[in-house]
Amino acid sequence: MKLKDKVAIVTGGGQGIGRAIALELAGEGAKVSVADLNPETAKKTAGEIKAMGREAIAVTVDITDLAQCDKMVKETIAAFGCVDVLVNNVGWDKMELFIQSEPATWDKVIAINLRGPINCFKAALPHLIERKYGRIVSIASDAGRVGSSGEAVYSGTKGGIISFSKTIAREVARHGITVNVVSPGPTDTPFFAAVAGDNPAIAEGLKKAIPLRRLAQPEDIAGAVAFFASDKASYVTGQVLSVSGGLNMV
Ligand SMILES: NC(=O)c1ccc[n+]([C@@H]2O[C@H](COP(=O)([O-])OP(=O)(O)OC[C@H]3O[C@@H](n4cnc5c(N)ncnc54)[C@H](O)[C@@H]3O)[C@@H](O)[C@H]2O)c1
Repeated sequence: MKLKDKVAIVTGGGQGIGRAIALELAGEGAKVSVADLNPETAKKTAGEIKAMGREAIAVTVDITDLAQCDKMVKETIAAFGCVDVLVNNVGWDKMELFIQSEPATWDKVIAINLRGPINCFKAALPHLIERKYGRIVSIASDAGRVGSSGEAVYSGTKGGIISFSKTIAREVARHGITVNVVSPGPTDTPFFAAVAGDNPAIAEGLKKAIPLRRLAQPEDIAGAVAFFASDKASYVTGQVLSVSGGLNMV
C-alpha cells in the first residue's frame, strides 16, 4: 500500500472526482478526512471508506472561507493526529460565452476555484512545514492549460492554480513538501452533467475527439492523485499531469 497510515484531506470528497480520490487514497491505506460543503455526501463517502475497513471522518467546509479551512485542518488533526496529504479538488463552473457572463458569476468561479484552494494551502502549510513533510495535489483542468470555449474565467482560475502551485512548490521544497497538479480532461461526474446540460451531443463530440475514445471516469483521475500523494513521487514537485485520454498532448 502506497499510503499506509498517511492522513489525507480531500476537499469536495462528497461526489464525483473527489469521492473517487477519497476512496483511492483509502484503498492505498490512508485515513481520510472527507471535506465538503454538503455534509450528507461527505458522510456518505466517509461511510463507504469505513465499510472498506479504513478510517474516515466527514468534515463540513466552505473552502471560500479561510476560517472554515483552518477548522477543517484542526478537525483532521484532532481525529488523526496530523495531516500528510492535502488534495484540493473542489471546483465549479457555469458554461457560457464570456461576453454573456456576469460579474457575480466571475466572483463565484474565482472564489471557489482560486481563492478556495489558496485558503486550503494557507490553512495546511504551517502544520506541514512544522512536520517537514507534506504532499499537496490540486485538481486543475486542461481548460487552464489550453483554454476551453465557454469557460473563460474558469480557465483563468485553473491556470492560476497551476502557476500558484508551481510557486509554492519552489517556496516549500526545503521543508520536504511537494506540490503537484493533476489536470483532468472531460470527466463523467455530476459537474460534467451540469455543465453539459441535457445535450448528449457534447459528450458524443468529445468522445470522437479524445484519442482513447471515452470520457474519463473519476477513478482515472484518482490514480494520478494517489501517485503524487505517495512517496513514489517524493522527487517530483511543481509538475502538472494531464489525465485526458490524450485529448491535449501539450
Ligand atoms: N468533471 C469534469 O469534466 C472536470 C474536468 C476538468 C477538471 N475538473 C475539476 O475536477 C474537480 C472535481 O470536479 P467534479 O466534476 O468531481 O465536480 P462535482 O461538482 O461533481 O463535485 C464537486 C464537489 O465539491 C463540493 N463543493 C463545491 N463547492 C464547495 C465549497 N465552496 N467548499 C467545499 N466543497 C465544495 C461539492 O459539494 C461537490 O461534492 C473540480 O476542481 C473541477 O474543476 C472536472
